[in-house]
Amino acid sequence: MLRAVGQRQAITKSLTSSTRLFSTTGLLKNASSPSSSYRGTPDADSESHTGKYVTTVSKPYTVTTYARPNLVLTHGKGSHIYDLENREYIDFTSGIAVTCLGHAHEGIAKIIQDQAEKLLHCSNLYYNMPAGELANKLVTKTREFEGMQDASRVFLCNSGTEANEAAMKFARKYGKSVSGGGQGDAKVEFITFENSFHGRSLGALSLTPNPKYQAPFAPLIPGVNVAKPNDIESVKKLISKEKTCGVIIEPIQGEGGVNTVDEQFLIELRKLCDENDAVLIYDEIQCGLGRSGKLWAHSHLPREANPDIVTMAKALGNGFPIGATMITEKIENALSVGDHGTTYGGNPLGSRIGAYVVDQIANEEFLNAVNSKSEMFTAKLQELADAYPDKILKVKGKGLLLGLQFKDDVDINKIVARCRENGLLIITAAMNTIRLVPALNIPEADIKDGLKVLEHCIAST
Ligand SMILES: Cc1ncc(COP(=O)(O)O)c(C=O)c1O
Repeated sequence: MLRAVGQRQAITKSLTSSTRLFSTTGLLKNASSPSSSYRGTPDADSESHTGKYVTTVSKPYTVTTYARPNLVLTHGKGSHIYDLENREYIDFTSGIAVTCLGHAHEGIAKIIQDQAEKLLHCSNLYYNMPAGELANKLVTKTREFEGMQDASRVFLCNSGTEANEAAMKFARKYGKSVSGGGQGDAKVEFITFENSFHGRSLGALSLTPNPKYQAPFAPLIPGVNVAKPNDIESVKKLISKEKTCGVIIEPIQGEGGVNTVDEQFLIELRKLCDENDAVLIYDEIQCGLGRSGKLWAHSHLPREANPDIVTMAKALGNGFPIGATMITEKIENALSVGDHGTTYGGNPLGSRIGAYVVDQIANEEFLNAVNSKSEMFTAKLQELADAYPDKILKVKGKGLLLGLQFKDDVDINKIVARCRENGLLIITAAMNTIRLVPALNIPEADIKDGLKVLEHCIAST
């Protein structure tokens, strides 16, 4: 029996007998501290296959931009993932909200095999059929599933950052087109929001107002102003018809702490953008494509909060790198041939995968299932929050983009490590928040098992 599976089953069993907090009727009030039964398997040591691989093959030859535990993942199936030591984990990370249909999805594997035998790449010198199909599907499904009703065209690229770079350039071009097309600094500024995350390239990083990420690379692009989410007055102070070309916001912030932006604020933001002829960009790279329980996070909003541009990536490829920038005809009218481009964007393989993923997600039955899993997940997280008021501040998020915000004195990195040692992968976000972003089709049994481990590790940390 795999070690971590054994650990998790031991925990699930011991929680069931003496320290279980969850029951079908809710929280058992008399749960004793499970710390005595905590027997996680520590990360692999330096003598293990993992340790040797990391220290001799990987680390010395890889740039030092990531801090990682001794964990080498080798394969997965559905919501389970396995490492080089053959330990099994329930995956509540889905590669940071990417593998929305789970690991080793058969439909996607078939597409990859089939397309690899036909045509992987042909550049944007020519048309290819999957790219047209994906663009077409994104526009029609977006309209059909309560997304931006003026969705009209799509630029295909390879990542979230690239999708935002395209959005920035399109907003700049629009700004120039409505302000006389000048070369100078007329209508080139952006407004972004506190705690937002839009990527790490110099453009996208300029919109990501986190000193930890920005400071080592300053100066960034000028003219980016930072407002507060849910504070329309803070936007009014910064926006101007003469200077602002674009306003970018995540309708649900992921990395920034799993914070849902208020509907009324977004309605007012749309109005302000209209009054100032500024392009409203929704970054749905993390919160889009079914993650919120609707096709788009903005599908929860009324039409008067529709954006001019939506950026997406992550779930669109279920792990294959792809991104897209969807725009209205108003933005399209400001663009000309040669304004932007990419070698790989819209390649037949990625596009075919993207079209398949959109077909799976833009489906009432699929979205209803996401919502019922979300209800169960959220209710259990609330039980946890009620059981540990000394540690947990609140439950946050929507759909299957969920967060547990902890008090400042709780070391959530320890909880993450303990969960890993007990067969559950989770990630953090800002504001001392644990972020839970499983596959959208995760079975309820995996949610329950994973939450038992999480509860155990919160109790014992
Ligand atoms: C909201 C948001 N925007 C942009 C990005 C950047 O995407 P990528 O890492 O694919 O470049 C991310 C990545 O986490 C994100 O969550």
